[in-house]
Amino acid sequence: MILGIPKEIMQGEARVAATPETVKKFIKDGVQVLVEAGAGIGSHYYDEQYAEAGAELISDPKQLFERADLILKVKEPLFNEKENKHEVDMMHKGQYLITFIHPASPVNHVMVSKLAAAGVTSLTLDGIPRISRAQNMDALTSMSTCAGYKGMIMAADDLSYFMPQMFTAVGMLKPASVLVIGVGVAGLQALATAKRLGAVTYAMDIRPAANEQAKSLGSKVIELGIPAEVAMGEGGYAKKLSDEWLAKEREELRKVLKDMDIVFLSALVPGKVAPILITEEMVKEMKNGSVIVDVSIDQGGNCAITPAGKKEVRHNVTINGIKNIPGLIPTSSTWMFAQNVYNLAHYLINEGAIVLDLNDEITRSILVTHDQEIVHEGTREAMGI
Ligand code: NAI
Repeated sequence: MILGIPKEIMQGEARVAATPETVKKFIKDGVQVLVEAGAGIGSHYYDEQYAEAGAELISDPKQLFERADLILKVKEPLFNEKENKHEVDMMHKGQYLITFIHPASPVNHVMVSKLAAAGVTSLTLDGIPRISRAQNMDALTSMSTCAGYKGMIMAADDLSYFMPQMFTAVGMLKPASVLVIGVGVAGLQALATAKRLGAVTYAMDIRPAANEQAKSLGSKVIELGIPAEVAMGEGGYAKKLSDEWLAKEREELRKVLKDMDIVFLSALVPGKVAPILITEEMVKEMKNGSVIVDVSIDQGGNCAITPAGKKEVRHNVTINGIKNIPGLIPTSSTWMFAQNVYNLAHYLINEGAIVLDLNDEITRSILVTHDQEIVHEGTREAMGI
């Protein structure tokens, strides 16, 4: 079995799908590994280290795609400007691909159809179910952990005052007040990071379990008064709120927003557009010099005026809608990502070949294209198949 690790081609993408450490593990499993030269530079994993781990370095990506049985990537296949060829067009029948595909998203429908037509069996990391036996394969959770930590560091960096309480010869400076809305994976990490930086932390979520976890981190919870049956569906997951309940949530939020120095937004119901929790009018009421970091921007954002993919000062508030935050902490995010995809590949490989058990919950949830067909339910629904 030959594994291929291409260099990521999306502009500014510093991550890579394998580290020298995971290359070693693959080789121990009997897998031959090809790594594109320079693939790990952006995240400080260097060619010599991959070679030392046992990988063969390849400078031509076309050759790498041609020789590999399985391709591991971070981003979905894209058009390679340098080669003047789409990555899917470098792939072949019977080849396997594991990466974040986001197949239901309309911008990816053409690419997914191309993968099916090319006979590639593709598996998407955003489909990994949040069940305990899949935890060590869950790259989405790893990347949310990175976004929570780095997002809060970016907020602290943009803040015009200190985060911790400071006792100085000229007097005492109060600690910053930080509110995290949507205390899932990213939100919890953001709260923990703010706490470590010395802020007073507040949390707001519609799930009682999330609020309990926030309390255990020493945060004060802003109670919303939304009944559990309105907020949660099967399995304790958050439900999309009606417009009336969202209006009530904004009303509660408005009471505390004016006292906050940092607001971290990470509220989402998976598969839905992010709920708008902060309107432009509410931003106008915030403190001068305060900061909003809106990590739900890929799903539209929790603040109505978050600029997608950039940072702007609006009404004296810095609003950050920068995307791909895990890519801004590339050594750690690559390390976590590479461990997750190794665990998934190791799970799927049996005696030197990938064996798909279509009755297995993990395999079923991540399979996108197989036998020249699009098999992913959410994608079929989105494409009207
Ligand atoms: P999660 O599903 O673990 O957490 C979302 C939380 O939002 C849940 O606790 C849920 O109960 C809560 N929620 C839902 N509706 C709410 C409402 N109306 N009010 C308050 N809370 C509400 O999701 P995770 O993994 O933490 O991701 C959060 C966001 O971070 C997502 O939008 C995700 O795409 C984004 N993200 C962004 C990255 C970036 O680079 N910008 C990287 C990784 C994640």
